[in-house]
Amino acid sequence: MMSKQVNTITVRQTQFKPENINAHYTESTLMSHFLTALSMSFPQGERFFVETVRNVRDQVSDEQLQKDISGFIGQEAHHARAHEQFNQLVQNSEYHLKKFEKAYEQEMIRLRGLSQRRQLAATVALEHFTAMMAGYMLKYPDVMFKGLSENMKNLWLWHAVEEIEHKHVAFDVYQQVFDNLAQRRRSMRTITLGFISSTVIMTSHLVWQDRKSTLYQPRQFIKNAKTLVGLTQMMWRLLPDYLAFYKASFHPSEIDQQDLLSKARELLVN
Ligand SMILES: [Fe+2]
Ligand SMILES: [Fe+2]
Repeated sequence: MMSKQVNTITVRQTQFKPENINAHYTESTLMSHFLTALSMSFPQGERFFVETVRNVRDQVSDEQLQKDISGFIGQEAHHARAHEQFNQLVQNSEYHLKKFEKAYEQEMIRLRGLSQRRQLAATVALEHFTAMMAGYMLKYPDVMFKGLSENMKNLWLWHAVEEIEHKHVAFDVYQQVFDNLAQRRRSMRTITLGFISSTVIMTSHLVWQDRKSTLYQPRQFIKNAKTLVGLTQMMWRLLPDYLAFYKASFHPSEIDQQDLLSKARELLVN
């Protein structure tokens, strides 16, 4: 079961330049904390994704898919590095993130103890989440990126474009090597629970660490309440794409993000 229309995968250097980053880098402190929570999970998560595809790469006979795997690995390696730099900078600007890194390390050790099939199914589920989120960021930049500096926007834009470009890769590898629908669905259920709860917990921790500016200032409180509505709206809007994943015939390319991708690519310098 090979892919339908898929994208060209281009490995680009990021335009993001590590520099001083404020703890609050979007207009709403809650959105800053939410994006930081996402970013925190990327370096370890993306290295895990690469490993799970590499584990079974020798069982993939399709030539195009082999090329796409190389593109996928190149892109994810760059993302992990860039977000590591970003996380380091945020950490320096008064957040405390180390304990989350530890928690992620523990989770990665647990995942690496699973069978190769389950590990790759976890990657497939998480890649679906990242592609959905990436599409949402490109579609609603005003909701996600209000007040973000050009430099920071570059980081998220670049990452979003590449996530959409390679969204089919782990899926196609899984189909070619394992083709197990029950496992794909099971893993999506557990990953959904894990991904949403860890993002909510991490965001809440950051909000609490920063309660003086997040909760105790009336103007910020109102902005954050709006952000909360925006994030809830995001979950509702993404629900159909999320549910599509459970169909037996699902393929990531059936979610059409071509227009968003072409517009966003124009903003990137390769
Ligand atoms: Fe990535
Ligand atoms: Fe990815």
